[in-house]
Amino acid sequence: MVEESSLAALLRSQRAAAGLTQEGLADRSGISVRTISDVERGLRKTVYRHTAQRLASALALVGAERDEFEGIARGSARRGPRALAPEKRVLAAPGARVPTPPTTLVGRERELEIVAAALADEDIRLLTLTGPGGVGKTRIAIEAARRAEHHGGTKPRVFFVPLSWTAEPLVGSTVAVAMGVTSTKERIAEAIGEALHLDPALLVLDTFEHVIGAAGFVRELLGRCSRLKILVTSREALRLSGEHEIVVPPLGFHRKDRGSGPEAIRADPAVELFFQRASAVRRDLVIDDASALVLRDICGSLDGLPLAIELAAARVKHLSLEALREMLDMPLRVLVGGPRDLPKRHQTMRDTIAWSYGLLDPDEQSLFRRLSVFAGGWTLDAATALADEGVTAVTLQHMSGLIDKSLVYLASPFQRDVRYSMLDVIREFGLERSEGAGEMGSFRQRHAEFYLSLAEKAEPGLGGAGQGNWFRRLETEHDNLRAALAWLTRTKDTKRALRLAGALWQFWRRQGHFSEGRMWLREALSIDRDKLHAARAKALWGAGWMAFVQGDYEEGEALSAELIQIAREHRAPLDERNGLTILGMILMGRGQFHRAMEPFARALELCWPLGPSWHLATSHLNLGMSKMHAGELKGAKQLITRARRMYQDIGDEHFEARSLGYLGYAALLAGDSRQAESLFVASLEAFRRLEDLQGIAEGLEGLAAVTASNANSQSAATSAHLAGAAQSIRHQLTA
Ligand SMILES: Nc1ncnc2c1ncn2[C@@H]1O[C@H](COP(=O)(O)OP(=O)(O)O)[C@@H](O)[C@H]1O
Ligand SMILES: [Mg+2]
Repeated sequence: MVEESSLAALLRSQRAAAGLTQEGLADRSGISVRTISDVERGLRKTVYRHTAQRLASALALVGAERDEFEGIARGSARRGPRALAPEKRVLAAPGARVPTPPTTLVGRERELEIVAAALADEDIRLLTLTGPGGVGKTRIAIEAARRAEHHGGTKPRVFFVPLSWTAEPLVGSTVAVAMGVTSTKERIAEAIGEALHLDPALLVLDTFEHVIGAAGFVRELLGRCSRLKILVTSREALRLSGEHEIVVPPLGFHRKDRGSGPEAIRADPAVELFFQRASAVRRDLVIDDASALVLRDICGSLDGLPLAIELAAARVKHLSLEALREMLDMPLRVLVGGPRDLPKRHQTMRDTIAWSYGLLDPDEQSLFRRLSVFAGGWTLDAATALADEGVTAVTLQHMSGLIDKSLVYLASPFQRDVRYSMLDVIREFGLERSEGAGEMGSFRQRHAEFYLSLAEKAEPGLGGAGQGNWFRRLETEHDNLRAALAWLTRTKDTKRALRLAGALWQFWRRQGHFSEGRMWLREALSIDRDKLHAARAKALWGAGWMAFVQGDYEEGEALSAELIQIAREHRAPLDERNGLTILGMILMGRGQFHRAMEPFARALELCWPLGPSWHLATSHLNLGMSKMHAGELKGAKQLITRARRMYQDIGDEHFEARSLGYLGYAALLAGDSRQAESLFVASLEAFRRLEDLQGIAEGLEGLAAVTASNANSQSAATSAHLAGAAQSIRHQLTA
């Protein structure tokens, strides 16, 4: 027998407290599922240092708990006696973790001290870093968040939410999804408050200037979460009472020693940043008496703005320092044009970008303008689709040129599909230029078409084997998909807007983006009522279904009635089946099980002739469910068993897991609580593997029902616990 290793038990309990599956932990930590599974089964009793550190970070362990974990994982400590299981934690969704910048931080100790002091101050709940684009707000926020996460006195949970691409009305639901809480608009702040409970937490809202109208949500959130602090970066303050604003100065602003020798000059962080970036492209660079002065002048004319410094330093590859100083010394705005009435640092930033852009060759300029329509980064094939030549090698060559000049950066150099991105100030400049050249409409249209084709390629993949990869892919591209939807609805491209929203709704549903999904579907459906029944039908299906899930039965009924009507008019049996299905679901939701059997039976008839499919399987399941609730147990069991087999054949693990749970209920109602229990456990296991919250809630409720059926007082208490856990998960999902 393998002896139970203390690391095995520790990892299992910490993982459970974090609410993660083995796959989820693997995803967050970058450690293979195989390793995690080996450790948990006691096959490996220790791990390498970096593995231990990554696991601890992914589990959000801090302080003594973290030390203990790392010690045991390295085999250098033993586990002390511990009566209690680790406390449950709310973890940031994978997309809401604090990013790791690819370069080292230069200077900013003073600013970080000020931020840390403010975060430690009980009276300050909202801290806003303001300043022009490129001054280094995000960089300071990232560093402050990392320090708070690892060393903060209260060990807060840290959530980092970039808002550059979020529509103002969706700020609340975006924050909620990032914190793993899914809810509707009205009660989001409250739901987050309940999920966080009294845990200390730090929420970083990056790039708030894009959604400044959502300041009210920030106020409400602070009111609901008594131990939450919010750190905002924004070009302007939120103007909320109690807001503590820190204006981010240029690099080196606090320096006292301003001597003129190389040593003193090198100690200036602005010069240091320039030197680091320039040395990356020219290894022979040294700071001697002569070059020190030139560097000081260059950084001076760039106002110590980090982004301007990075752009200028990238040019040192082909320009001497003196030549660079001379170029930057000229009144730039005379050279490059553009608005003149901006505040000084803002103006310097713009001028430097314009200068850098002016030095590109025309092909690079053209690609740069195209790339600025991407939201939240892009892949090489997306960039190629937008380029005129459409040849990957050529696009890559020009993109490398833009990377060399610091206009584009590698966002995820270590992943298989490399992503590229642009900082917002640079991107805004690119958009202005493409608008000026009258090209923006055509770029945006191509962008939208590219993501429409991606979504339509993903759609069939969401319901079968390999679905996890497709969900991840769409989540990574969510900002681009949003941008595409915004463009298509704005230009009233009804057909594509409906197709895109229709292709995405299953993704929104599964990832918990209910409010957002319904918003886009509503917009797409409101464009044009009379045409395009096929695309419209799919969007109606999604909107109706999500309205049902969020308990909005009236809207769901109206949507399904419209769907059934247009399906009959156009003789589209599958659409009619979908409309009838929503109707049946709502009847079930209202407790009218007998009545629900009718639309479900009709739905099943409609998809029989169409051959095996997810729809056919699900229609079996639905009719089976209504029969079960109406007391027709035998028929119910047959139908659900058949559904389960069909899901197995098409590789839909979610619905297979769901069917298991329903069979559990059928067994329970038939009086076989042992079989019911094993079916619920199997279903729960599968849902945990799939990280499906709603499914987990259903599984827990099933087990609660089994326990409750074994009537004694002990099991009644257990049952209440299980039901309560299920209830709280559900509350997050549909509140
Ligand atoms: N202290 C610093 N050390 C190193 N790089 C920095 C520093 N501050 C800013 N940068 C770099 O300068 C660029 C602009 O900074 P960023 O934080 O994005 O500005 P903002 O958020 O104010 O627009 C980024 O590439 C960032 O990595
Ligand atoms: Mg920023």
